[in-house]
Amino acid sequence: MATVEARLERLNRALGAVSPRLLAWMYRHAQRLPLVNRRLERVYAEVLADAAAEIGQARAGATSHVRLPEHGVASETLLAEMREVAAREQGRWRDGYVSGAVYHGDAEHVELLTRVYALHSQSNPLHSDVWPSASKYEAEIVSMTADLLGASALPPGAERVRGTVTSGGTESILLAMKAYRDQARARGVLAPEIVTAETAHAAFDKAAEYFGIRRVNVPVDASCRADVAAMRARVTKNTIALVASAPAYPHGCIDPVEEIAAVAREHHIGLHVDACLGGFVLPFARELGYPVPAFDFRVPGVTTMSADTHKYGYAAKGTSVVLYANAELLHHQYFVATDWPGGLYFSPTLSGSRPGALSAACWAALVHTGRAGYLEATRKILETAARIKAGIARIPGLRVLGDPLWVVAFAADDFDIYRVLDAMGRRRWSLNGLHRPPCVHLCVTLRQTEPGVAERFLADLEQSVAEARDTSRSASGLAPVYGLAGTLPVRGAVADLLRRYVDLLYKT
Ligand SMILES: Cc1ncc(COP(=O)(O)O)c(C=O)c1O
Repeated sequence: MATVEARLERLNRALGAVSPRLLAWMYRHAQRLPLVNRRLERVYAEVLADAAAEIGQARAGATSHVRLPEHGVASETLLAEMREVAAREQGRWRDGYVSGAVYHGDAEHVELLTRVYALHSQSNPLHSDVWPSASKYEAEIVSMTADLLGASALPPGAERVRGTVTSGGTESILLAMKAYRDQARARGVLAPEIVTAETAHAAFDKAAEYFGIRRVNVPVDASCRADVAAMRARVTKNTIALVASAPAYPHGCIDPVEEIAAVAREHHIGLHVDACLGGFVLPFARELGYPVPAFDFRVPGVTTMSADTHKYGYAAKGTSVVLYANAELLHHQYFVATDWPGGLYFSPTLSGSRPGALSAACWAALVHTGRAGYLEATRKILETAARIKAGIARIPGLRVLGDPLWVVAFAADDFDIYRVLDAMGRRRWSLNGLHRPPCVHLCVTLRQTEPGVAERFLADLEQSVAEARDTSRSASGLAPVYGLAGTLPVRGAVADLLRRYVDLLYKT
């Protein structure tokens, strides 16, 4: 790793002086030369060697099937092995070592979701005549979520907030952006743009790439919130929507939705509020007396929202809700085919057939938890996060970014924060490494509210910082890769490295 690090660093320094566009062009062309290509592949393989070893190690011991077995494996044999695999993976998240990812995870709650899944495992909302329960569950999930996000507080005569259940935050965002694109196309906008803070989720990049939209990024201010003046300055006749996050994934800060909505209203364009993380936390945080700015449909100008039931809604993975302030825009999301030989076809979201069991389990999570349950969960999460935030701020050299409620990002001024990430990894922690600026975050969930977890986190963090400061130890793990990936001017090379990593995950 040290040689790769040194090589990449030399490359980084040498390339720093060249314009990024020229570099991108040079990289694209140089890559086509067989000699360069072979060398690049070798460097990628070297950089990813540790990751490849880790993946191999994690899979060791499990039976591997690269072709269908001639005869099916008996269910008890299969279950015994799969139970073992699940048990091996469970400890880390159950004991609170993982940032985000598992938002509830209590055994009783997981058992309920599992039992509901089992009841409905054959259900498919595409066939609403066969499984009317599936569309009922989905309609009520949408209604309960909309109610939380201000739909019931709209003035008399306002249109009803509607929406659909999707497979996750990314799909909710993709669909809203597609709806804006198609609505704008109908009025002649052929080069659509969205204006977002650079901290808005990568799902907006994905939407832009999939649907031919240009994402125009503006910086965030010192409090990590979207710079509204910069947003206003970037609106053009091609702008189809503005985006605000409540909160944004990297630093957990809430964009000034009311001010952004004023810009949207001024220009008669849409505003999507991405409450994937905050949709099931902020309404309860406000009720508990935390300072939560207006962020939902109560703000005139908010036209769509995303809120993830599979995060703080405590559903199983695979559901989210996308909401619309008006039916006309929502109808741009739907897909209908009237002339297909397969019959009249309609589908509200990206997939055709969908797992009705996940919607049933989501409905059960919402109804089982209830308002009091969410209020109590939010209280525990925010109190724990406040203790963690204060504890981080007390560690010399660490600095919390912005003023977040429960996604706590921290940076270091005089040592490599990615070495802290690695050192925490060696202590079982799975935190998230972020860049621009380099920092690490912990997204606090119910797992960290268990007794002793926050204290263990802070003690491990203090030791990890001491380790990171000790530069006599050479950096190992992913720290050098993270450091360089954030700054390497050849972004195409970083993208190719990521593609090689995905390839590794699919390697049998
Ligand atoms: C603010 C925000 N938006 C969107 C997403 C994407 O959600 P998903 O991973 O469910 O697709 C996330 C995920 O963490 C998020 O934090």
